[in-house]
Amino acid sequence: MKISGTGSALPRKIVTNDMLAQFLDTSDEWIRTRTGVTSRHVISDEKLEDLAREAAEKALLDAGVRADDLDFIICSNVVNEYITPQLSCIIQGAIGATCPCIDINCACAGFIHALEIAESFYKAGKVENVLIVCAEEPTRMADWKDRRTCVLFGDGAGAAVLTPGDNIKSIKLSAMTATDKLWQMRMLQPTPYITKEETETPLQMKGQEVFKFAVTAASRDITRALEESSMSAEDIDYYLLHQANIRIINSIQNYLKQPAEKFPTNVESHGNSSSASCPILIDECNRKGMFRKGDKIAVSAFGAGFVSGAVVFEW
Ligand code: UT7
Repeated sequence: MKISGTGSALPRKIVTNDMLAQFLDTSDEWIRTRTGVTSRHVISDEKLEDLAREAAEKALLDAGVRADDLDFIICSNVVNEYITPQLSCIIQGAIGATCPCIDINCACAGFIHALEIAESFYKAGKVENVLIVCAEEPTRMADWKDRRTCVLFGDGAGAAVLTPGDNIKSIKLSAMTATDKLWQMRMLQPTPYITKEETETPLQMKGQEVFKFAVTAASRDITRALEESSMSAEDIDYYLLHQANIRIINSIQNYLKQPAEKFPTNVESHGNSSSASCPILIDECNRKGMFRKGDKIAVSAFGAGFVSGAVVFEW
């Protein structure tokens, strides 16, 4: 398969660090130096499914594929207002597709997991055109009184249309359970039979442990994907990394010993938009005309679970 089209959509509301400092014990200086983030797009009056539809329609247009020619839709999403039906089915109707669809929740690494699933569909000869949409509103997961988490996130949707090709060189996924490092719990409806204690907890994070996992996992996944592709770090034209923290990106760059120009970022103006982060970055680079046919690209992401993954492909 190959990526034939990309799209993205962001909420209108832009929240700067200074705006956060008006109600949180934080500062632009702390957020910028510790994370690289200056502002983020935050959902206010939009619905996430509308951003997902917009990103999907842009990707279809870019690929020149019609919605009714899609054979499968994979939506990566951690939370949205609906528990059921699944977001992919809402997107299917909104864009006028009729194909089957599934949702996956692989936290911030959802885009790479979606590519892996899609690739197995291609290898099985089951599909011609696949739509991946990663739509996330992590700002609805954080406690906005907790300066350690809420300053990190932004919302948005990123999409990619896949068509037949031989451009994916390697995909590597990993999982390592760590339920106490990055988690959130919601309360389900009560029943007359529930006797266990249940609580609702906003997003909790052991930041430094997540940081260490992120650098180790991404460095390892990229190395493995390069090995499987018979490529060296030098062969890659662009490293598009999950936009969680500029310091994490810099650490991975140092590990790979590659120049900063190979690592485009948007964490400065987007924050961490979970699984939407990679496809939004890919779309922004694509629309700037950065990629040339044949460019070698590595994408890597990590997140709650812990899960992680990297893909090496040719543009
Ligand atoms: O998609 C995956 C999701 N998560 C991540 O990728 C997060 C990975 N981790 C990180 O990016 C970093 O660990 C953070 C940015 C979350 C935190 O940076 P840090 O350098 O690890 O800071 P820290 O947690 O060690 O906190 C240092 C100090 C603490 O104060 P004390 O205890 O030293 O007095 C915090 O309370 O900074 C304080 N602090 C803040 N101060 C101002 C924490 N958050 C803030 C804040 N503003 N927003």
